[in-house]
Amino acid sequence: MSIHIVADKALVAPTVLLPGDPLRAQHIANTYLTDVVRYNEIRGMWGFTGLWKGNRVSVQGTGMGMPSFSIYAHELIKDYGATRLVRVGTCGTMSETLKLRDVLLVQATDSDSGINPSRFGSYQFAPAASFDLLHRAWQKAKELSIDVKVGNVLTSDQFYDARGQEKMRLAQSVGTMAVEMESCELYTLARLFGIEALTLLTVSDSLLSGEQVPSEQRQTTFGAMVELALATLFA
Ligand code: HPA
Repeated sequence: MSIHIVADKALVAPTVLLPGDPLRAQHIANTYLTDVVRYNEIRGMWGFTGLWKGNRVSVQGTGMGMPSFSIYAHELIKDYGATRLVRVGTCGTMSETLKLRDVLLVQATDSDSGINPSRFGSYQFAPAASFDLLHRAWQKAKELSIDVKVGNVLTSDQFYDARGQEKMRLAQSVGTMAVEMESCELYTLARLFGIEALTLLTVSDSLLSGEQVPSEQRQTTFGAMVELALATLFA
C-alpha cells in the first residue's frame, strides 16, 4: 500500500503500462487483457492487472504532467516493486517527418521543467530510454509492420505556454520531434532506481498545422501502439 495507490502489493505486476488517462487504462485492460482485477481507485486514478497472452501486466493511469506522473511511477517502483515501466501516450508533432497518427518511440527527452535542475543542480542529466526495450520495440514494429519513428521529445511543464512558439523553434533547431508532458520524469526515475523504461507515443495533434485526430478515431490509432508495447514487453 502507498499514499496514492492503495492496493495489496501482490496485485500489481512488475511490468506496468502507463497511460495518462485512467479511462484509457480501463479501456486497455478491458480490450487487451483477460482475468482483469482493478487494484486501485483512489482519486479515480484506476490501476488494473490482467494477463496478456498468459503474461501478467498492470495498467496504471498517471494523470497529466510530470508531478502527477512522478507520484505514480515512484510508488510503483518503490512500494510495488515495478521493474519495467512503459508509457503509452500522445504527443503533438513539431516535425514535418512525424505525421498525425504516427507512432514515435522516444529515444531521449529535452525539457523545460525545473524538476531535474532541482534534483541535479548543475549536473546535466541525460534522460534516455532503456536501450533493450527501445531496440526490441523497433524490431517488433518491423515484424508487425507498424510504421514507427524514433526520436527525441520535449517534455514540457505547460500545455498552454505563452512562450510555446519560441520553445518549439528551439526544439526544432535541434531535431526534437514532438512535445508531451511526462517522459523526462519516467526516464529519470528509471535511471535513479535502476529499472527499465520506454515511452511510445501516438501523434494526436500537430503544432505545425493545428490539426487534431478526431476523438472518435483516437482509440483505434492508440490500439496499434498498445499492441506494439505489449509485444515488445513479452517478446
Ligand atoms: N502539447 C503537450 N502535450 C501534448 C500535446 C501537446 O500539443 N499533445 C499531446 N500531448
